[in-house]
Amino acid sequence: MTDWFERLKQTGVIPVVTLDSAADAPFLASALMGGGLAAAEITFRSDAAAESIFRIRESEAELFVGAGTVLSPETLRDAVSAGAQFIVAPGFNPKVAEAALDTGIPYLPGVMTPTEIEAAMSMGFSALKFFPAEAAGGCAILKALSAPYRSVRFMPTGGITLDNLGDYLSLPSVFCCGGSFIADKARIAAGDFDGIRETARKTSELVRKIRGGIHV
Ligand code: 3PG
Repeated sequence: MTDWFERLKQTGVIPVVTLDSAADAPFLASALMGGGLAAAEITFRSDAAAESIFRIRESEAELFVGAGTVLSPETLRDAVSAGAQFIVAPGFNPKVAEAALDTGIPYLPGVMTPTEIEAAMSMGFSALKFFPAEAAGGCAILKALSAPYRSVRFMPTGGITLDNLGDYLSLPSVFCCGGSFIADKARIAAGDFDGIRETARKTSELVRKIRGGIHV
């Protein structure tokens, strides 16, 4: 598999983060790295997304930073210009997929149904965000979907917490999970980067424990 896939897999859990102020970006990046999570998805749900990605690339070169909630080719291009290293979306949009193929940036489209999985596969995408994971049926539906789509690897996101993370990461079809629980809006607003570092630490420890130090 590719380098980007390995980086996400090794990190195990990708913090999904919305920053309202790009000034917080270096603190966030430092807290995540300090807690042992070397990747993040910065969502385009705020005007500060592109500048946040840019600042993270400047301040924490080791952090693998992607853009989330990428709903249009224009947003994808903004994300790439800012330095995003991968693209995530809640759904599968062929126009965004084309733009990702044009620029060559890794794209993890969101899927929830067999039809969406096949649409993504038909354009060459096999690492897919499964969203919204818990609301869609959690591990049970992922197990069912993995039977016919054996080559697909999922990043379940939506409702993931420290309590259910182990169940998801134990599934062979799951290469990593995404979640906002590590750096939630309330703690970012409060400037609680120590708290974010602590949750990142607990999360990365759990990933190591579940995987027994062996990369599957
Ligand atoms: C996402 O954008 O991927 C989700 O909003 C994250 O879901 P969560 O907040 O339940 O982790």
